[in-house]
Amino acid sequence: MAADPDRVLIFDTTLRDGEQAPGCSMTRPEKLRVARALADLGVDVIEAGFPAASKGDWESVQAVAREVQGPVICGLARCNREDIELAARALSDAPRRRVHVFLATSAIHRQYKLNMAEEEILRTAVEGVRRARELCDDVEFSPEDASRTELEFLAQVVEAAIEAGAGTVNIPDTVGYTVPDEFAELFRYLRKNVRGIERIRLSVHCHDDLGMAVANSLTAVVAGARQIECTINGIGERAGNCSLEEVVMALKTRTAFFNVSTGIQTTRLYPTSRLVSSITGMPVPRNKAVVGENAFAHEAGIHQHGVLRHYSTYEIMRPEDVGLSRSHLILGKHSGRHAFRDRVRALGFELDEAELNQVFEEFKALADKKKELFDGDIEALVMRVEGSAAGPWMLLELETHTASDGAATAKVRLRHSDGRLVERTAQGDGPVDASFKAIEGATSIGAMLRKFEVRAVTEGEDAQGEALVTVEYNQRTYRGASVSTNIVESSTKAFLEVINRIELAATGGRAREERAGAQSAAKAT
Ligand code: KIV
Ligand code: ZN
Repeated sequence: MAADPDRVLIFDTTLRDGEQAPGCSMTRPEKLRVARALADLGVDVIEAGFPAASKGDWESVQAVAREVQGPVICGLARCNREDIELAARALSDAPRRRVHVFLATSAIHRQYKLNMAEEEILRTAVEGVRRARELCDDVEFSPEDASRTELEFLAQVVEAAIEAGAGTVNIPDTVGYTVPDEFAELFRYLRKNVRGIERIRLSVHCHDDLGMAVANSLTAVVAGARQIECTINGIGERAGNCSLEEVVMALKTRTAFFNVSTGIQTTRLYPTSRLVSSITGMPVPRNKAVVGENAFAHEAGIHQHGVLRHYSTYEIMRPEDVGLSRSHLILGKHSGRHAFRDRVRALGFELDEAELNQVFEEFKALADKKKELFDGDIEALVMRVEGSAAGPWMLLELETHTASDGAATAKVRLRHSDGRLVERTAQGDGPVDASFKAIEGATSIGAMLRKFEVRAVTEGEDAQGEALVTVEYNQRTYRGASVSTNIVESSTKAFLEVINRIELAATGGRAREERAGAQSAAKAT
C-alpha cells in the first residue's frame, strides 16, 4: 500500500456512477469541465466513464485522459476482454491511468443476473484482472454487491483478485443495504482472512438507498479502508452515492476521531457542487449538509444570538472552509468591474477574461432591473455562463399577453446557429405554457414536460427566479435551468436549454454514427 497509511484517497465517480442518475447525463464538453473542476478540488482518482457503454462514453473517457492533468484517470470495465481492452485504449493517453474491473459476486446476482457458479466467478475475476494488468499497471477490482455476498466466498474472490494483480480492491454496497456495524465487521473479516490484503489498498463504494452511504463509508475507513468512492452532491443511481463533500468534511471536522487526512482543497467544495448542479440541472436541496443553502443559516433567535457571540456555539465548520464566503457586501449598478471580479473570485470561481466580460455584461443588465445584487445573484450569473448548454438555438425575443381568464399568447423569435431565424406564436394556459408551445412549434421538437419548478435565488421582492424544467424525449430525461427577474423569461430560457440539449444529443449521436461508419469502412479497406 502507499507510503502514508493515514491518507485516504478520494476516488470521484461523478462522471460514471453519478452520470448514471436519471437526467444527469452530460455532454463531452460538460464532462471535461467537471473533470477539470475535480482536478482543482484535489481528488486523487477521477472515474471518467464506462468506455464500453457507448462510443460517446469511450470518447469522453479519452478526452478526459488526454486533457486533464493531476489525478489518476480511471475507466470502468466489466470482467471481459472486450470491455477491458476498450477501457485501456481510451485511457492510453493519460499520464496516470487505472482500469477498474467489476464482477458481481452475491448469490442473487450469480443466480439471476449472471447465471454463473462460484467457480466460474472466481475464474472470470482472475482472468479479467490478469488481462487488465497486461494493459495497465494500476488495476482496481470490485466484487459488485459485495455487502450481500457470503463472507467466505467474498474473501476467496478478493484473495484471487489480489493474486492476479489488483492493487486496489473496492468493496461496494451496490444496493445501499448494509448498516455501519455490519459493514465494519465485513472489512475486519476481510483484513483478517484474506492473504496479501496488507499489500493492496482497500476501497469503499456505498449507495444511499437507506440514507447511510456516508455513514457506511466512514465506518469502512475506521475498519481499514483507505479509498472512498463518492460523487459531488451524492448524485448517482437511484438514491445516489456517498456524497464527496459530506464524507470529506466529516473526516476533516472530526480529525481527532478518524485520524486520517485527504488531499481535498475544501474551499473548492461549494463551487464544484454548484457547477455539477448547474450542469446536470439537479438542484442541491436547501437543507443538504455542507453545501445546501441553509447549511450555515441560523433562523432561531437563540441560535443567532449564540453565533454572534461565538460561531462555535452552533457551527461545527466555517462556511469559508467549504468555499462559501458569503458577505453582506451588496453590489449594484455603480459597482465597477474590479469590485465585481473580486467578488466572483471570493465566491470561488475562476473565469477567463472572455467569460468575465460576458458575466459582467449580464451583471450590468441585471443591475438595471434590480437595485441590489447579492452573492446568490452573482453565483447564478456565473453558473449560467459556466454551465449552460450553449446553442444551437438562441432566444432573440419573447412577448406574452395574458387575458383575465388565464388564456395567454406567446410570440418567440429564435435564431439557430445554422443561420435560420424562426418566429412562432402560440396559445396556452398561461404565459409559460404558451411560450413552451411557441418554442416547440419553432424548433419542431415536442417534448413531454415532466416537472417544472421556480424558486427565488435570493431574498427580496425583486429576487431573481430560477426555473428548472425536466422533460422526457425519446425515453430520455433532459433538464434545463435559467434565472431572471422575470419568471416567464427564465422558464422560457430553461425550456429552450432543454431543446438545445435534445438537439445536441441528436446531432452529436448522428455525428458519432457517421464517424463510426467512416472508421469501420476504413478498417474494411
Ligand atoms: O455500485 C456498484 O457496485 C458499482 C460498481 C461498478 C463499483 O458502481
Ligand atoms: Zn455504484
